[in-house]
Amino acid sequence: MSKTYPGKSSLDITDFYIPLNLSKVFGNKNEVVLEIGFGDGDFLIEMADRHPEKNFLGIEIKTKRFKIAVKSTQHKNNENLRFLHMNANIAVEELFFEDAFSLIYINFPDPWPKDRHLKHRIVNSEFLASLSRILKKDGVLEIASDHKEYISHSFDVFKNISYFKSQYPPPGYLHNLPNRPHTKYERSFRKEGREIFYLMFTNNK
Ligand SMILES: C[S@@+](CC[C@H](N)C(=O)[O-])C[C@H]1O[C@@H](n2cnc3c(N)ncnc32)[C@H](O)[C@@H]1O
Repeated sequence: MSKTYPGKSSLDITDFYIPLNLSKVFGNKNEVVLEIGFGDGDFLIEMADRHPEKNFLGIEIKTKRFKIAVKSTQHKNNENLRFLHMNANIAVEELFFEDAFSLIYINFPDPWPKDRHLKHRIVNSEFLASLSRILKKDGVLEIASDHKEYISHSFDVFKNISYFKSQYPPPGYLHNLPNRPHTKYERSFRKEGREIFYLMFTNNK
């Protein structure tokens, strides 16, 4: 299950009943935005700074990255930001009520490029079904990647799922979204001159 570490932004789920009442977690009824696989957390920290009227929850499986994110917020007063150290596959199935989130980000998911590893890709139909359940009706799912084959694989997965509707005109992605904070991976991909793909879907459940 999840582990916890000292730091205001570290969420210890053992303090709460499951499924989590997110109003209790954040101490208000503001909408909640979820990021899956937040890495060092810089994207979510920036979003939480920009939008004090919203709450932000991130889930990251790697201990080192999780600790870096918590440490980065040590001297900040972000009441609207929590980091959870956990496998998102389990979290999205078990931790949240239906319609818990208004927006979900998956930024630069691990591409798992080898054929024998494709089953590890987080964009798969089971995972998307769980995301649809915890995302509000008409809520938004945003995915960013530098990996063209992952993008076409993702569109193949979405093609068989009626409830997520792509929001961008064909070919279904944009290469730039002004004002969107760049994640750590994104900064390094952009430095290498790699193309970035942004996808956006609404949850028409
Ligand atoms: C390529 S990195 C991108 C990190 C960050 N989003 C960025 O853009 O800088 C993918 C991240 O997803 C995390 N991750 C992969 N599978 C996960 C899972 N099942 N649950 C939570 N995090 C996961 C990895 O540990 C890693 O930090």
